[in-house]
Amino acid sequence: MYRTHTNGELRSTDINKEVTLAGWVQKTRDKGFMTWVDLRDRYGVTQLIFDEDRSPEAVMKTASSLGREFVIQVTGTVIERESKNPNMPTGDIEILVSEIIVLNTSLTPPFTIETETDGGEDIRMKYRYIDIRRKPVRDNLVFRHKVTMAVRNYLSSKDFVEIETPYLIKSTPEGARDFVVPSRMNEGQFYALPQSPQTFKQLLMIGGMDKYFQIVKCFRDEDLRADRQPEFTQIDCEMAFVEQEDILNTFEGLTRHLLKEINGVEVGAFPRMTFDEAMKRYGNDKPDIRFGMEFGELNEVAQHKDFNVFNSAELVVGIAVPGGNSYSRKEIDKLIDWVKRPQVGAKGMVYVRCNEDGSYKSSVDKFYDQEDLAKWAESTDAKSGDLICVLSGETNKTRAQLSALRMELAERMGLRKANVFAPLWVIDFPLLEWDEETERFHAMHHPFTSPKPGQMELLKTEPGNVKANAYDLVMNGNEIGGGSIRIHDRAIQSKMFDYLGFTPEEAKAQFGFLMEAFEYGAPPHGGIAFGLDRLVAILGGQETIRDFIAFPKNNSGRDVMIDAPAPIDQEQLKELNLKLDL
Ligand code: AMO
Repeated sequence: MYRTHTNGELRSTDINKEVTLAGWVQKTRDKGFMTWVDLRDRYGVTQLIFDEDRSPEAVMKTASSLGREFVIQVTGTVIERESKNPNMPTGDIEILVSEIIVLNTSLTPPFTIETETDGGEDIRMKYRYIDIRRKPVRDNLVFRHKVTMAVRNYLSSKDFVEIETPYLIKSTPEGARDFVVPSRMNEGQFYALPQSPQTFKQLLMIGGMDKYFQIVKCFRDEDLRADRQPEFTQIDCEMAFVEQEDILNTFEGLTRHLLKEINGVEVGAFPRMTFDEAMKRYGNDKPDIRFGMEFGELNEVAQHKDFNVFNSAELVVGIAVPGGNSYSRKEIDKLIDWVKRPQVGAKGMVYVRCNEDGSYKSSVDKFYDQEDLAKWAESTDAKSGDLICVLSGETNKTRAQLSALRMELAERMGLRKANVFAPLWVIDFPLLEWDEETERFHAMHHPFTSPKPGQMELLKTEPGNVKANAYDLVMNGNEIGGGSIRIHDRAIQSKMFDYLGFTPEEAKAQFGFLMEAFEYGAPPHGGIAFGLDRLVAILGGQETIRDFIAFPKNNSGRDVMIDAPAPIDQEQLKELNLKLDL
């Protein structure tokens, strides 16, 4: 037996017990006649004491040769510590060691294995297995496990069945590029890794499985950000014989259960906001509603004066920054520079100081009097002491810019509190989205999403205005999940492919199997997929999903530990019938 207890377990009630422990040497303090060692494992740290008077000589000798991260096994007696450490669960006791075995030595680790490490991101990723020994990383992985188990148990208790679907498939259009896998046995042909199990879960509904879920890897070759990985995990769900309302209620139930079980937080009914409303009030389809600073549209009150910038703008819109009147001129100039950065892209920013005496001072006083500015304050809900920031231009761009400013300011002011959870549903998404690059409409969610009742006819005349039975679950400014009610009628699905610019041949080649399945009694169905990595990160009070993934990829999609992707040798290429002309 390697150990009788873990390193997080022993307390003063165990005093006088003889125990065997195993783990890694966190640190040693060698005073010559006495040596202390902090022994670490997944469960915690226990202090070992080697005492010249009480430990055998050979044991003393081994103790003085220990290096950081050596793997050791010790046997000894639990004794009361002379100087207790109230910050450690095992801080009342220590182990007086009588036997020691070095199970393995270790090179000096490339960074300190402490909560606050001296290792940068790159080196920690290269030696991720060492990084995982650090408490914050370990805690995050255990936290993820807890969330995953809570999800499985909850869904299973609601009659959902977890079913695996294949990874070697044909392309599914979720809007990103596919990762492809060459087939050795089928020359010149490729599998695609699923961007999601979308078509399979629909086929499971046609197969009568009724309530499906799967905690499943998805693969998307897209630009990476803090909340995106090329391979990530979904809690993928589908239900038959449901309307949107059923889905929202079911998964609001799951989310509420998780918040309670994991975070001990009770939240009321989730607010619902249409996509249009979210864009108007927050300039964003995933609004962070933990704080105010809602948009006030100012076209009516700011146009038709002599200020041409506003007169020629499609949208003039502002937010009131609480207490922002205290910003110095320099600070405001910095803010203006911030919105003008290429990543935000505003041309400039107009501001109004709301003075304590009720008067206003703006950067456009030449064009607007106190009465005008009072109307701006009313529209943006600005109070005295606030600063109104106003942007203008093309509607969508201006909203995106002001939304970026709103989030930045909230971050700076500490309004994005990690332990506050503000979930909401964003509903009635547009069915289609204009793509500047291809100059075509694309399905905003995916092509299997059904339009709202009675909207099919609008597709020809006003395609951009057609609303879908599509919804997102948003929490703290993050899209946690998204789904829709699906089309289950072959004729409508064919029409949809037609509107999306697929020729009948293309539609048949790519999705013939699904359309055929629709002819064998497809029930009405719909579903949702949560991004598990994002959900876990948000519940854990963070936003970087990498921190909750054991072996994540870096921002260039590389695994720097195993050094992937990597070239393959000529033999393997030949076997796959692939030629590389470099
Ligand atoms: P969607 O594309 O909205 O829907 O994805 C569902 C959720 O998955 C998460 N997500 C990601 N997480 C990390 N890295 C990524 N690259 C990434 N991409 C997406 C998000 C998102 O809300 N088949 C549909 C679901 C359905 O209709 O039922 C789908 O995949 O949190």
